Amino acid sequence: MTVSIRQIHPFFVGEVADVDLRRPLSEGEAAAIDAGINKYAVAIFHGQDITDEQQLAFSGNFGTIELPGSATNITKADERRIRADMADVSNLDRDQRPFARADRRRMFNLGNRLWHSDSSFRAVPAKYSLLSGRIVPAEGGNTEFADMRAAYDALDAATKAEIEDLVCEHSLLYSRGLLGFTELTEAEKASFKPVRQRLVRTHPVTGRKSLFLSSHAGAIVGWPMPEARAFLRDLMEHATQREFVHVHVWRQHDLVIWDNRQTMHRVRRFDDVREIRDMRRTTIKGEAMTAEQAA
Ligand code: OGA
Ligand code: MN
Repeated sequence: MTVSIRQIHPFFVGEVADVDLRRPLSEGEAAAIDAGINKYAVAIFHGQDITDEQQLAFSGNFGTIELPGSATNITKADERRIRADMADVSNLDRDQRPFARADRRRMFNLGNRLWHSDSSFRAVPAKYSLLSGRIVPAEGGNTEFADMRAAYDALDAATKAEIEDLVCEHSLLYSRGLLGFTELTEAEKASFKPVRQRLVRTHPVTGRKSLFLSSHAGAIVGWPMPEARAFLRDLMEHATQREFVHVHVWRQHDLVIWDNRQTMHRVRRFDDVREIRDMRRTTIKGEAMTAEQAA
């Protein structure tokens, strides 16, 4: 059967039907899905009851897996609940119990409630993220997506000209700092050293421009800090207006793929101290830096 994709938002988001992600895809199917992600920026699949191994095999169709590693998180290797090549986006510890309210892993993970693009704090930021909803809460915990091409297109010409060559600094220190989470060890702080990203990036396949924003962005190279922060806030507010946003309400076994090069996302609150939300993410490595890195 051929893969079919239906756009479900005026600007972006395709719902994909007629494909079973548990089995190897034909070249045609993989190419159709990849084209859909480039075009719609977010692809939604329902009813995909897959294992970790099947998720990894499916992810391999789109590039090289980005490993979570210590530069992206504060969870220690021996505290991991799931395999090392997947990001654990759940609220669970190794005993499958929700983190206690004051657990520092929970506090760190609350950063996902802020709009972001995955791994924008890495010199080479992520390409796609694939998130599988294994257990979803009865209420809340939606994931929201913002179309950063539509946000860019809607800017006035003067703003577009002004931002064309701006470069921002991104770090987990900035996003966590916004939430007042600053209790990091010296080793953690050192591993979260800021990286540089262009503010306007051009999609390598479609040629469309988008705003490359993220809550990890906390400075603009050459700008006074307060002016940079105030401007980044303005742009964030612009880019996350309701008309550019799609709300995904999870059903168990949904799998959602987003292109971090042209979207932002955030998770919404739910009763995470009591309810279980078991989400597992595979991430596809980006192919290039967006800006030269400082020495
Ligand atoms: C992620 C993320 C949002 C969510 O997996 O990168 O930000 O809904 N998750 O859990
Ligand atoms: Mn994320």
